[in-house]
Amino acid sequence: MATKRPEQFVAVLDFGAQYGQLIARRVRDLHVYSEIVPCDVPAEELAAMGPSAIILSGGPASVYADDAPDVDPAIFDLGIPVLGFCYGLQIMAARLGGTVGHTEKGEYGPATLIRDGDSQLLASTPAAQTVWMSHRDAVKTVPEGFVVTAHTDVCPVAAMECPSRRMYATQFHPEVRHTTFGDKMLKTFLASICGLAPTWTMDNVIDGLVDDIRARVGKSRVILALSGGVDSSVVAALVHRAVGDQLTCVFVNHGMLRKGEPELVEQVFRHQFDVPLVHVQAQERYARLLAGATDPEQKRALIGTEFWKVFFEEATKLDGVEYLAQGTIYPDIIESGARKTGGKASTIKSHHNLIPFPDGVRFDLIEPLDHFFKDEVRALGVALGLPESMVYRQPFPGPGLAIRIIGEVTPEKLEILKDADAIVREELDAYNQRLFEETGQRNSEHSCWQYFAVLPDIRSVGVMGDERTYARPVIVRAVESSDAMTADWAKLPYEVLGNISSRIVAEVPGVNRVAYDITPKPPATIEWE
Ligand code: XMP
Repeated sequence: MATKRPEQFVAVLDFGAQYGQLIARRVRDLHVYSEIVPCDVPAEELAAMGPSAIILSGGPASVYADDAPDVDPAIFDLGIPVLGFCYGLQIMAARLGGTVGHTEKGEYGPATLIRDGDSQLLASTPAAQTVWMSHRDAVKTVPEGFVVTAHTDVCPVAAMECPSRRMYATQFHPEVRHTTFGDKMLKTFLASICGLAPTWTMDNVIDGLVDDIRARVGKSRVILALSGGVDSSVVAALVHRAVGDQLTCVFVNHGMLRKGEPELVEQVFRHQFDVPLVHVQAQERYARLLAGATDPEQKRALIGTEFWKVFFEEATKLDGVEYLAQGTIYPDIIESGARKTGGKASTIKSHHNLIPFPDGVRFDLIEPLDHFFKDEVRALGVALGLPESMVYRQPFPGPGLAIRIIGEVTPEKLEILKDADAIVREELDAYNQRLFEETGQRNSEHSCWQYFAVLPDIRSVGVMGDERTYARPVIVRAVESSDAMTADWAKLPYEVLGNISSRIVAEVPGVNRVAYDITPKPPATIEWE
């Protein structure tokens, strides 16, 4: 099920921009719904979607290149206000009769924008201000009916507009924070120029989603695989609000969750939300399954395949289930589309995480988060009453602690890792909290983003009291990152590292040494397997 689009929305036509998602995010931050649409969408199709405004994103190409992403020029005749950024400005100029050419050196990074005359878009921003530029080409002559409203040293047409046709464009990137008044410009466009009210708030969004789910599900039953992760937890809370006891959550406890996690799932869903919950105690089944498996990919495959087996064993015990709710989120959809279209971050195809339905079993999918970014999913979670510890939890891999135990997973190793990991999290949760209190930012520059313990498959010599020990080391991994694509090791204060080390060797039997992983990604990965 695709989320129903609100009546008022902004279509962001994506020309392969580095900042395409960011534009959609900024618009949503101003409480107007926005969606990313392929740049070459036919005008008729776009008109049928009924956007209240169109934003043309930037893009890496030159408008005159052979394979340059193009726009159907008829979109400029739809009577819908259009705002273009960077490549969006250039394509607007080129398609409406202006000209675009190369500049000598290009213009990259901060620049001083000087306003020229009156401008609706730049109204209530200063005569001189800092903006963020990233371009080689520039508009040489503006189309008929347009006026130049700002320039920089390097760029004579840094902004242009044609108020009678409600068309506006900037060579700089208002969506980037370095453009000091970028938000103000976007707000002016949305509110004053397009007359859009800031009604896209989490409460309204929840009401809309709940109505959609109810209408779709009717009297049927819905099943959901609850992992305790952010996405599946938010879907569970949402679907439960919509259809109450018609939802059953299946929580497969494979035994490789972190300490306290199964209890949190029980506490939140069974006790706080009163959701029908099937808690499958599959620890022993998984222990048998994983015995002897040492290869990381083999462990992943075994755990993943078994998960769906266990899930469907439970799902098929229930009568009247027609729907399976899933926590697919917007980046999953955009990314799967981008791969298919060779880089245009836009072609939005329905994306289904592949679910291995057993023969003769079929449920329709409900994916109510398929148009939300991760931080919006978190905001939904908070608005639905989920605890912060669940909503803001750090990423945790599906195969769980199995890929943090190098080599074979055994009950003894699992117990050590769970205890050591709990100490790492406790200490670094507290460290992050202190930084949060100091800076007011949950992910401040120095707070760590993901942190955990790893158990390598070796032993080393130590001495405790008068006794020689031959026990296990624990590796602490703590990284700073925003998207897990790249990461750096967190420069934790020695004191924090020292506390973690002394607590682990004192409190976790079988451990006599603690090491800290100081490798960035690349060349290492965040996980050890
Ligand atoms: P790496 O180790 O590739 O991890 O740098 C990047 C991010 O992905 C998470 N990760 C996984 N998540 N199943 C998952 O659901 C997996 O098999 C898996 N492997 C890694 C990892 O925790 C990090 O956030």
